[in-house]
Amino acid sequence: MTSSSHPPAVATLPLDTTLVWDHPGVSTPEKSALRLVAVDDLGASQVTVVEGTPHGAMAVGISAGKPFAVSNRCRHLFASLGEGQMTTEGCLQCPWHAARYDVGSGRMVRGPQGAFKPLAGVVKATAGAIPLKTFPVELRDGAIWLVG
Ligand code: FES
Repeated sequence: MTSSSHPPAVATLPLDTTLVWDHPGVSTPEKSALRLVAVDDLGASQVTVVEGTPHGAMAVGISAGKPFAVSNRCRHLFASLGEGQMTTEGCLQCPWHAARYDVGSGRMVRGPQGAFKPLAGVVKATAGAIPLKTFPVELRDGAIWLVG
């Protein structure tokens, strides 16, 4: 018998991402989606806190008709951003000192207001320069789902 430098022939099939694997206990992209919150449960603020996800607590909501999920702690003094509200411009506003975030990038777009307003630029340029974490989500069946 002679040896060959060629690997054995292996049949390959194209990956069909439309298939849903329903074998119990086996993780698939479809099964790994996690339902975070019903849109109807967001209330007037259009954002809420979802605890216990694989990424910890998240602020989850709707901005300009699109779902989003970001890390929940404000970069200023760590307020729970999911207890804030969405602005008419689609920014997430912190409940404590009204810093604002772009939920697509996670970036602070306005520093804290009120007593902290004189420091708004400094906060935005220091702690606020680190964007919130953003997570992939989809709107499906009236709910927001974490898909990654
Ligand atoms: S804790 Fe968010 S702006 Fe101060």
